[in-house]
Amino acid sequence: MERIDPFALPAAQFFQRFGGESLTFDDLHILQARTIDFGANEVDLSTRITRNLRINTPLVSSPMEDISEYQLAIAVALQGFPAVIHYNLPVEEQAAQVRRVKRYENGFIMEPITLAPEDPISRAVEIERETGVSTLPIVEERRLVGLLTKNDYSGKKHSQRLVKERMVPLERLRHQIALLSDLPADDAARLAKANDLLLESHAGVLLIVNGRGEIDSLVTRTDIEKSEAFPDSIKDRHDSLLVGAAVPTRPEEVKERVRELVNAGVDFLCVDSSHGNSLHERQVLEYIKGEHPRIDVIYGNVAEAGGAIKGIEWGADAIRVGKGVGSICSTSRVSLGTRSQITATYSCARAVREYCRKHRIEPAVPVISDGGYGTFSAIGKGLLFADVVMLGSMLAGTDEAPGEVIYDRQGRKLKEYKGMGSLEASRRGSAARYDVNSFDAFVAEGVVGSVRAKGPVSRWVPQIKTGIAKCLQSLGFRDLASLHEAVFAGEVLLERMSEAGKKEAGIHDLVEYTRDLPLD
Ligand code: XMP
Repeated sequence: MERIDPFALPAAQFFQRFGGESLTFDDLHILQARTIDFGANEVDLSTRITRNLRINTPLVSSPMEDISEYQLAIAVALQGFPAVIHYNLPVEEQAAQVRRVKRYENGFIMEPITLAPEDPISRAVEIERETGVSTLPIVEERRLVGLLTKNDYSGKKHSQRLVKERMVPLERLRHQIALLSDLPADDAARLAKANDLLLESHAGVLLIVNGRGEIDSLVTRTDIEKSEAFPDSIKDRHDSLLVGAAVPTRPEEVKERVRELVNAGVDFLCVDSSHGNSLHERQVLEYIKGEHPRIDVIYGNVAEAGGAIKGIEWGADAIRVGKGVGSICSTSRVSLGTRSQITATYSCARAVREYCRKHRIEPAVPVISDGGYGTFSAIGKGLLFADVVMLGSMLAGTDEAPGEVIYDRQGRKLKEYKGMGSLEASRRGSAARYDVNSFDAFVAEGVVGSVRAKGPVSRWVPQIKTGIAKCLQSLGFRDLASLHEAVFAGEVLLERMSEAGKKEAGIHDLVEYTRDLPLD
């Protein structure tokens, strides 16, 4: 078929033409493919992050110690995508972080934490500090006898007293108790009915009990409010937020970690290695899939088609692509095997797509393009080929990221952001990611740096989402599935940007200018 615009090329021909060159974001212009007959707010950003998990925003936060802990995991899950909790933490602590996310927002809180009337109030204070939970049914041999919430005690004044002295007793709770047998059996209908009863009750929590008066579950008013405020939030079938966790590629270390994470309710795991396609990674992947076949596993990192296909053969549920391209990464300077991110992503995505089609793997294995993303248009370019983009630096400066706040000489607010291959992070556990067994002749593969503070996730991420939606809209696509169909069918055309073109695409010919986005 003759193209109207013969100067641009379909992806397959484009990468063929530049075969032997490793290209990245700024090397590409993407041409509009279809007439735009819809607004950016109509673009559907949902996608699959693993074979069995759908998310509402095509992003995931990187398993790094300055990014993915429970605070950020909660904030991004409310925005439609998961975090992968890093493993530079003792096993119990990583599992506790997963639990905090799972408990954060629930339809039904199925196994609520309870106390006994004889327990000291100080125990309630501890529970709140450790888990964030402050609504505690009080039970005697599982039978509900009262309720203790934050409104009932002060940590300072009452901590030496007993729960029974401050709890609201059963007789005063009648209006906020529902019998399980009075609620519909179907999960969604039961939740809707329970929410209705709660909203009618004036109370903050509805306690659901079985015929013996034992506590079964509860729903809270703050959960209903959170659901209404965050329509994109991603949840499991019990209505808890989705969260993933990383594990190292050391087969001997991984068993306990995997078991604890699964017990904590993790939704998916990520075998975290800077150089995937290794025997150790295969062993860990096969171990997890053998022991926990229902937990989806992300495998990587790879940058070439062969490594991506190996991952599928070994049982991976998603392939993570990106070597030597992260903003804090010095791998390209100390080892080989790296590749520019757009060529790597295209090459792996195309091979995975063809392999899944040929072997009738349905749903297909998603591709996650990880590292190097610093602008909205870069994310748009990655999503031409990948199902999800993994972010590090773009989330590192948010309020919820655990990195330390620093002020530079000009008084700008920054946050620390370090590579997992830096000496500092490696000593806390991520040495495994870089296959380092001893620090005697240690070669760092990452640096310790800082990024501009970006404010709360709830303000910054919606801007990223708008940016991605605009990328799809500007090419004429309403969703990622139709974009991918068109890209791989050759309908979307690409051009190589010249050096002069790169200059032209940047801001130029101004004496000075201001920026409205907290991009570095
Ligand atoms: P961005 O560009 O989003 O990249 O900040 C995040 C990704 O970089 C990888 N990563 C590293 N790579 N040395 C590396 O070679 C490191 O110290 C390092 N720390 C993180 C990782 O894939 C992450 O998602």
